[in-house]
Amino acid sequence: MAQNRTPLRYPGGKQKLTPFVLELLKANDLEGGHYVEPYAGGAGVAMELLVDGHVGHVHLNDSSHHVYSFWRSILDHTDNFCSKISRSLLNVDEWKAHREVLRHPEDHTDFEVGFSTFYLNRTNRSGVLTGGVIGGLNQSGKWKIDARFPRNELITRIELIASLRESITLYNLDAESFFATAVKKLPKKSLVYCDPPYFEKANRLYLNHYNPEDHGRIAKKIQKINRVNWVVSYDGVPPILEHYSERRKFLYQLQYNASRAYKGSEVFIFSDNTVIPRRSSLPYISKALKSNSKSLYQPLHF
Ligand SMILES: C[S@@+](CC[C@H](N)C(=O)[O-])C[C@H]1O[C@@H](n2cnc3c(N)ncnc32)[C@H](O)[C@@H]1O
Repeated sequence: MAQNRTPLRYPGGKQKLTPFVLELLKANDLEGGHYVEPYAGGAGVAMELLVDGHVGHVHLNDSSHHVYSFWRSILDHTDNFCSKISRSLLNVDEWKAHREVLRHPEDHTDFEVGFSTFYLNRTNRSGVLTGGVIGGLNQSGKWKIDARFPRNELITRIELIASLRESITLYNLDAESFFATAVKKLPKKSLVYCDPPYFEKANRLYLNHYNPEDHGRIAKKIQKINRVNWVVSYDGVPPILEHYSERRKFLYQLQYNASRAYKGSEVFIFSDNTVIPRRSSLPYISKALKSNSKSLYQPLHF
């Protein structure tokens, strides 16, 4: 199994799809180019592609100040961040102090917000910032607060990413501004992978989420991007399929764990200029490509 490269845990994180994204890059002759995540979160796919040398530059955008501060801090203050990982106590008092930082981020530096985001991400259930500490406040659960905090491993991941800082550009924009500015300036050899907050249940998982009208507006904006290749992943619910009804897409099953295992249909949607591979090394994607082959590979009319 591929190694985790991102230091963040993310509910519904797309890291396991990296082999398919790589297959997409290859099919479209985009290897070595720019790779872009307008909704970066834990950026699991981006980090794996960059560390393994498949893309030359990554652009990570997230409108969450917490998430952005984390990425900014590990790139700009790597040593300080890593020594805090080594020294931090893993107990409920320390956890409460970090929770206070995130309750009043305006009273703290970006570095403090970035570190507290990381601390809660690694010590909360499923990595959800509002999810509560692993093991509970009295630490009586089977798993304790330190269950997902392997200090040395996390430091190694952060140092590796920071060594590639020249190849990473960070943004803290609303995705719509990001599409209107940064995406317009990308070189032609770029892949934009949009993984917006889910249509359903997103308000439980992320601090920033969209309402149904937002999803519709975003769908229009994304489908206007025509200079570079783009793909979108979502939960495969009817309103989303409707918003992208004119695009090629396939549904697949992805299992992820956000407090309890949830097995649902996800959808992958493609820009018209993107070549879709016919098979994948991921069996569940291969199966989906095969069962959707009629609609996926029909000629497109421009
Ligand atoms: C589904 S998660 C992305 C997970 C990511 N693909 C991963 O594998 O870790 C969605 C992310 O979008 C961010 N987000 C929510 N609304 C946004 C907006 N309007 N503009 C930009 N980012 C936004 C959230 O903060 C969250 O980190």
